[in-house]
Amino acid sequence: MQIDSSLLNKYNVPVPRYTSYPTVPFWQDDIDAARWKTVFKEQLKISNHKEGISLYLHLPFCESLCTYCGCNKKITTNHDVEKQYMASLIKEWELYIELMDEAPVIRELHLGGGTPTFFTPANLALLLETIFSKAIVRPDHEFSIEGHPNNTTREHLEMLYSLGFRRVSYGVQDNDPEVQRIINRIQPIENVQRATDTAREIGFHSVNFDLIYGLPLQTTERLTKTIQQCIEMKPDRIAFYSYAHVPWTSRGQRLFDENDLPSTDEKMKLYQLGKQLLMDHGYHDIGMDHFALETDDLYAAKLEGRLHRNFMGYTTQHTSLLLGLGVSSISDAGIAFAQNEKTLHDYYACIEREELPVMRGYFLSDEDVAFRKYILDVSCKGKTAFKEEHLSTLKKHSFPELEKLAADSLITWNEKELTVTDLGGHFIRNICKAFDLHLLRNQAATANPRFSNAI
Ligand SMILES: C[S@@+](CC[C@H](N)C(=O)[O-])C[C@H]1O[C@@H](n2cnc3c(N)ncnc32)[C@H](O)[C@@H]1O
Ligand code: SF4
Repeated sequence: MQIDSSLLNKYNVPVPRYTSYPTVPFWQDDIDAARWKTVFKEQLKISNHKEGISLYLHLPFCESLCTYCGCNKKITTNHDVEKQYMASLIKEWELYIELMDEAPVIRELHLGGGTPTFFTPANLALLLETIFSKAIVRPDHEFSIEGHPNNTTREHLEMLYSLGFRRVSYGVQDNDPEVQRIINRIQPIENVQRATDTAREIGFHSVNFDLIYGLPLQTTERLTKTIQQCIEMKPDRIAFYSYAHVPWTSRGQRLFDENDLPSTDEKMKLYQLGKQLLMDHGYHDIGMDHFALETDDLYAAKLEGRLHRNFMGYTTQHTSLLLGLGVSSISDAGIAFAQNEKTLHDYYACIEREELPVMRGYFLSDEDVAFRKYILDVSCKGKTAFKEEHLSTLKKHSFPELEKLAADSLITWNEKELTVTDLGGHFIRNICKAFDLHLLRNQAATANPRFSNAI
C-alpha cells in the first residue's frame, strides 16, 4: 500500500479534521445564550426519549507541559485546584439540570483533558457520583477516560471500573527517549505496560493508545520501534495522529527548535510507515487517524455503518445531544453548537454569576445540516447519496471539487452518489472538504493558517 508521494504532497494542505461542521473558525464569536438554552431544552427531550445523551467532562490540569500539546490545559503541580474545579463543574451541571423538565438519561460519558488522572481517585469518584445522582444512567452506557500512563493508578482504574467505565485511552505518543526529552514527556514504556495490564486485569474491555507522527527528532527507526513496542501490548484501538503544528495557538510548540521537526517528505514517510506497520499487524483503518483490531466494536461499527463522528472523534454511539461541561468544552445539540469559556478565569467567573459559561457557538441552517450529513457520510461510511434539492448548490461548489478528486482516483461519483475508493480512504479530510460550503465560498480562508495540514 505505497501511496504515491506526489499525491500525498498535493493533498497535504491545511484542512479541518471535521469533528464538527461547520468547523469552529466559522462559528459566531458570541452566542445568543437564550436561544442556546431553548435549543438545548428541545434537544434534551428528543435525546432523552431516544437513546439518551452524551456527556463530556473536560478536566484541564496537567503536572507538566508536553511541548507539542495542542489541547486546552492548565499546567500546575498544586492539587488544591481540584476542589474548586469540581465545584464549578457540578454547578455548571446544576445550571443545565435547572433547564430540564426531567432527569437526563446518560448513555455516553467521556472524561478528557488535560489529564483526567491528575485528579485523585477519591475526587473523581465524588465528582462522578454527584453528576450521576441527578441523572439516570442507561444500562447499556459507554464510559471512557483519557489516562496519562505516568499517573493512572490501580486505584483510579478500580474506581472507574466500579462506576461503569470500560474504555481507557492512553497518551503514548512516542517511546523513544530522545523524542520524549525534546517534547518534555518522559514516559518509560514500563508505565504504559503497567497501565495497560492493570486496566485489562480489572476488566476494561477496550484500551486505546494515542500515537503521533511528525514529532521533533522522530525518525523512521524510532517510530518503527515505538509501533512495534505498542503492537506487542495489543491495544484494541490506536489513534495515529499527525502532529498538528499550530504555534499561533499552542505556544508551548515554540519551546523546541522547528528545525528538529521532520521535513514534509520525512513526515510523509513516517505516516506511510506507521500505517503499513499497523495494517500488517491486524489493525484496520477506520478513517481519519483511527485504527482498530477486528475484535473492537469500532471495527464492527464501521462495517455495519454505525459509526458516528463528533468532538470525541469516532464513536459507535449516536446521541442527538452531546453536552460538554468544563472549561473550553463544546456541546453539540445537532442543530447548534456551543463552546465554553476557554480560560479558567473566565469560566469560573461565569459560574460564580450563575450563568452558563458559553462564549461562542453556531446555529445551523437547513443547508448546514444537509451538508454536514454529506461530510459525516464520507467520514463514517465512505459513501453518500445526493439529494435532488441540493443539486444546484452541489453543482456550483462541490462537483468541481469531486471532478478533481475523481481524476486522482480518490472517489467514484455521479450526480446521484459518491463512493470513496480504497486510495481515497487515506484522504478522507480532503474529500470532506468538497462539501464544506463555508470554506469553498470563502476560499481566502484556505490561505489562513487556521487548520493544520492534512498529513
Ligand atoms: C488530552 S491528550 C490525552 C490525555 C493525557 N493528557 C495524555 O497526554 O496522556 C489527547 C491527545 O491529543 C493528542 N495531541 C495533543 N496535541 C497534539 C498535537 N499538537 N498534534 C497531534 N495530536 C496531539 C495526543 O496524542 C494526546 O494523547
Ligand atoms: S499531552 Fe496530555 S499531559 Fe501533555 S500537556 Fe497535553 S494534555 Fe497535558
